[in-house]
Amino acid sequence: MAQGAECIKKTLLGIEKPYTGILPHELKRQFDEVNLDEKLGNFNEVLEELKALYLKDAVYFHHPHYVAHLNCPIVIPAILAELVLSSVNSSLDTWDQSAGGTYIEQKLIDWTAERIGLGSEADGVFTSGGTQSNLMAMLLARDHVCNRQAGHLSNKTQGLPADFKRLRILTSEVSHFSVQKSAAILGLGYDAVIPVRSDARKKMDLADLQRVLDECEAQGLIPMAVVATAGTTDFGSIDPLEDISAICREKNLWMHVDAAYGGGLLISPKYRNHLAGIEHADSVTIDYHKSFFQPVSCSAFLVRDRHELGHVTCHADYLNPKSQTQEGTPNLVNKSIQTTRRFDALKLWMTLRTMGANALGSLFDHVIDLTRATYPLIERDPRFDIAHVPELSTLVFRYIPEAALTAEQIDATNVAIRKALSRSGRAVVAGTKVSGRQYLKFTLLNPMTTLDDLQGILEAIKHEGARYVIQQSALATC
Ligand SMILES: Cc1ncc(COP(=O)(O)O)c(C=O)c1O
Repeated sequence: MAQGAECIKKTLLGIEKPYTGILPHELKRQFDEVNLDEKLGNFNEVLEELKALYLKDAVYFHHPHYVAHLNCPIVIPAILAELVLSSVNSSLDTWDQSAGGTYIEQKLIDWTAERIGLGSEADGVFTSGGTQSNLMAMLLARDHVCNRQAGHLSNKTQGLPADFKRLRILTSEVSHFSVQKSAAILGLGYDAVIPVRSDARKKMDLADLQRVLDECEAQGLIPMAVVATAGTTDFGSIDPLEDISAICREKNLWMHVDAAYGGGLLISPKYRNHLAGIEHADSVTIDYHKSFFQPVSCSAFLVRDRHELGHVTCHADYLNPKSQTQEGTPNLVNKSIQTTRRFDALKLWMTLRTMGANALGSLFDHVIDLTRATYPLIERDPRFDIAHVPELSTLVFRYIPEAALTAEQIDATNVAIRKALSRSGRAVVAGTKVSGRQYLKFTLLNPMTTLDDLQGILEAIKHEGARYVIQQSALATC
């Protein structure tokens, strides 16, 4: 263990760039030679192989030039917690497999629900990530709506009612794809998700939400949930939660808030007000492994009314008999779609107990401030076109070459920039599309990244962009 810890410490401290730029086929060759039927000679060889096959070319989120996806560098108390929870290997499905672990998770769920303001009947459970939390939200919303239909007892026992094809989920056009995925998994299909237009700031357009609801009514469709996003994946935009909740209340609709990304604002000393209205939600997704600087996986799903979690409760004599519930034994499996489940809560627990919520929340504030300081650098530069005013910590923009090029050529230039940066390991940036055009994206979640780092990456983007354009025009004239 000590040798392994030394190896990882040396590796992490010695990282010079976020990525070596290795391509899949280059790394694959080394894997072809591994024979898993035979063990290696000794532990040194195991470590050497680990370095060669994984550590050497891994993508390092703690490097200041990793500015791509919603991955955060992680806080040290959480790493210690990983060691503890894996060593003890508690499983959080039942009390008789976890004891105190159950209360640690429950206390964190109660704390998060209180931070949201969900009220005294709230409850929830840790999940593997935002995708699973959103799936749970759609499952509960679906069953909540179906179980109210006359003549239909419950989805859990009878399956979906005959008119399930009329169910619809309303969410903004820039919400996370796990909403569509959930609809498919739940037997409703992608087509059950109606995209609501977003405004210039990439927030759900309320007039369009109203239009979609009116259309649903006119067509006899059954809106089963409105999914608002607090921190969209690309733009970090927060939907108008207060207004959406008023519409949901008026229409008696389930409101889910996907705060996988923006959930970190719950402990922000500066920007908590951006989540105003989240307290009206029927359910909420929070990803601690994004804006709470926790190792993957660490996430939660919360509901306003604890009884709704009954839609996923199933009793087994060997595990969680009903009699235990009657006796008051807290078996968390009654609230989860998983059975065996990691004690991920311990990471957040040790982090809060070591650092405190304010210090943790300040890390997220710091990257939001960094994003706001970077925005004018991009906005004022004629070589860049920025797609939005940032609200959290992403910047979506593209390089515009000096030469007059077609839209397709500008797209190709931006794809090439991203590849060139990744290949050189100079920086890892993300890419996305806005109105069908290719953009670059910074997701800033590393408090160690400085404005200087970002200025350097912007210069490198311009350099690679200009180089690509020259190369292409040289090829065209050959
Ligand atoms: C807004 C939003 N919701 C949900 C998810 C899915 O979360 P996870 O990757 O933890 O499953 C993401 C991931 O980036 C996200 O940005």
